[in-house]
Amino acid sequence: MVLITRDVPRDAALNEARMPMPTITYVSSTDGTSAVEVEVGATVMRTAVVNGIRGILGECGGQAMCATCHVYVEEASHELPAIADDEDEMLECTAEPRTGQSRLSCQLRAGDFRSITVRLPERQV
Ligand code: FES
Repeated sequence: MVLITRDVPRDAALNEARMPMPTITYVSSTDGTSAVEVEVGATVMRTAVVNGIRGILGECGGQAMCATCHVYVEEASHELPAIADDEDEMLECTAEPRTGQSRLSCQLRAGDFRSITVRLPERQV
């Protein structure tokens, strides 16, 4: 028998249990607004794809190599991680114009935020 335990302080475990799940809200000009509760670690791109939210393609599977997961971040509960060099490079290849709110949604991971609202571009290709 193998017993797996997590080395989490009791208070931290209790606080985690009380915390609401992270929420991702997608705003589409054609499909309205959709909110999805996710586990920590889920990306904005993968969550959209598995929940059938149109407007994010994610053709490279989250490797920051296609730019078909471009979103505009409208609001986030926390400051998001800085844009890495590979993301920055791909954001120059988006189908819709890059703005100061542009991010690759495959690089946005629940846990870095508790809630986030992203607007979907009109097109990804
Ligand atoms: S899924 Fe390809 S860059 Fe995000």
